[in-house]
Amino acid sequence: MASLDWNSIVKYILIHYRWVFVVVFLLPLSAAYDVYYYARSWLVFQLSSAPRQHKRKVENVQAQVRAWKKSGQKTYMCTARPGWQTISFRQPRYKQTFTNININLVDILEVDVNRQSVWCEPLVSMGQLTAMLVELGWSIPVVPEMDDLTVGGLVMGTGIETSSHKAGLFQHICLSYELVLADGSVVTCSQEQNQDLFYSVPWSYGTLGFLTAVEIKIIPAKRFVRVDYAPCHSRQLLLQRFSAATRQEDGNQFVEALCFSRDTAVVMVCNMTDSAEPGKVNSIGRWYKPWFFKHVQSFLVSGPAYEFIPLRDYYHRHTRSIFWELQDIMPYENNAVFRYVLGWLVPPKVSLLKLTQGEAVKELYEQNHFIQDMLVPLNTLGEALDCFHKEVQIYPIWLCPFLLPARPGMLQPAGGKDALYVDIGTYGVPRVQNFHPVDTTRRVEQFVRDKKGFQMLYADSYMTREEFRAMFDHSLYDKLREKYRDTTTAFPQVYDKICRKARI
Ligand SMILES: Cc1cc2nc3c(=O)[nH]c(=O)nc-3n(C[C@H](O)[C@H](O)[C@H](O)COP(=O)(O)OP(=O)(O)OC[C@H]3O[C@@H](n4cnc5c(N)ncnc54)[C@H](O)[C@@H]3O)c2cc1C
Ligand SMILES: *[C@@H]1O[C@H](CO)[C@@H](O)[C@H](O)[C@H]1NC(C)=O
Repeated sequence: MASLDWNSIVKYILIHYRWVFVVVFLLPLSAAYDVYYYARSWLVFQLSSAPRQHKRKVENVQAQVRAWKKSGQKTYMCTARPGWQTISFRQPRYKQTFTNININLVDILEVDVNRQSVWCEPLVSMGQLTAMLVELGWSIPVVPEMDDLTVGGLVMGTGIETSSHKAGLFQHICLSYELVLADGSVVTCSQEQNQDLFYSVPWSYGTLGFLTAVEIKIIPAKRFVRVDYAPCHSRQLLLQRFSAATRQEDGNQFVEALCFSRDTAVVMVCNMTDSAEPGKVNSIGRWYKPWFFKHVQSFLVSGPAYEFIPLRDYYHRHTRSIFWELQDIMPYENNAVFRYVLGWLVPPKVSLLKLTQGEAVKELYEQNHFIQDMLVPLNTLGEALDCFHKEVQIYPIWLCPFLLPARPGMLQPAGGKDALYVDIGTYGVPRVQNFHPVDTTRRVEQFVRDKKGFQMLYADSYMTREEFRAMFDHSLYDKLREKYRDTTTAFPQVYDKICRKARI
């Protein structure tokens, strides 16, 4: 009699019936978590208690850094936020060995309408910030998509949205940063003050100091976004439309495209507006609505169209389906019956999915999943799409254009002048025969380096230290790590935090 292979049975159940666990356990937990945090954030803002508490909380961070110093600087330091909470599919290994500094800075501090800016603590999330600002008639120029992304992570890593072709990356809408440095001192930096530090903080991944507050530009919000959907049935047409819409000087506040295959794509061009045509409003954020990317795909069949989407629904349009990651985890979620009954609980939090995924699912992801955002010059988009098609053949692909201003820092635009780039987001299961997580990723990384592009830091990187330094300009960064006392004993280099070896 063949003996039962329990190991494979358990593995089979974990992989194929994970959705049961997600529905019964994770969805309600995610919803409860949100209700608690949004209620807390609202209350704190109403009571204006955050600004008073802020100083005390920063002093607490300073005290912890000084204690580390006093105890002989034996290990590096990092924030104490557990690895499963971040929006990346990996967990950092170093949390267990570095000295963990508690940074309990979760509040919106002040909205200054005269200066047109908002002061936030670093753990403020995008969902929390837009809920507050849009209520007051304001917004920020770049609202990265997922509700749970935090201000700190977006400054230290990257943040981008469909308005970035005008406003730049998240770091470019920040007016100043407040940090606790390795020697325990507090500094504020901006264009006017400690400029070198101001330019070096973005993409430094917490290796220059602890961020304690960020001042971000605000802009007036309108009620709707008018979205024009232009289906394209050839590569040529996609490139033409996408780059013309991106380059247009006036209007076109938001530009985005989704590629559904080698030769089909839908380009979306949008403006904010205060009024909508009757019968043309589509509240895509409602729980019973189909996933946004499926809705977009339908225009390939039905032809060009336009509609008006309420502003916050637009900002978080890919949140409910986690772009298209959810179709692998909960394939039935886009089913109409499910949506009406349980759709309001979706999405499960990425953090909770990660916390509970277990070894089997992790291994499956490792071998069969490719999650990357690659940033390349706009004029190399055609070649880049060919490269991704050859190497992974994952669709949909997210295309989001952005302006990269020529400023000192890690990201130097090709040609040395302000340049238009595009973020190519590929998330899913490769459809090619010869996919190999390391070799394939390394070939794509090489392509991106050759084109003077960049890889987002949250993703799996298999570059060597030399290759990483060739992609990112370290000249100012190296100078600052020498200049500020204790930095090199307090924090590792960026590479040592983001390379594949540093993550589980
Ligand atoms: C499913 C998914 C969807 C995504 N969608 C988008 C998107 O729509 N738009 C977009 O722009 N990006 C997106 N990203 C990428 C995302 O922007 C980056 O991964 C970002 O850095 C994550 O932010 P976080 O808030 O989870 O930060 P974390 O991962 O917690 O932070 C990143 C790093 O910053 C450092 N850090 C954070 N806070 C501090 C602090 N206070 N002091 C010092 N150092 C600090 C830490 O070293 C940390 O490792 C997505 C990623 C995934 C996996
Ligand atoms: C946005 O505004 C610009 C200029 O005002 C216009 O050319 C463009 O067609 C508008 N797009 C949409 C989708 O309304």
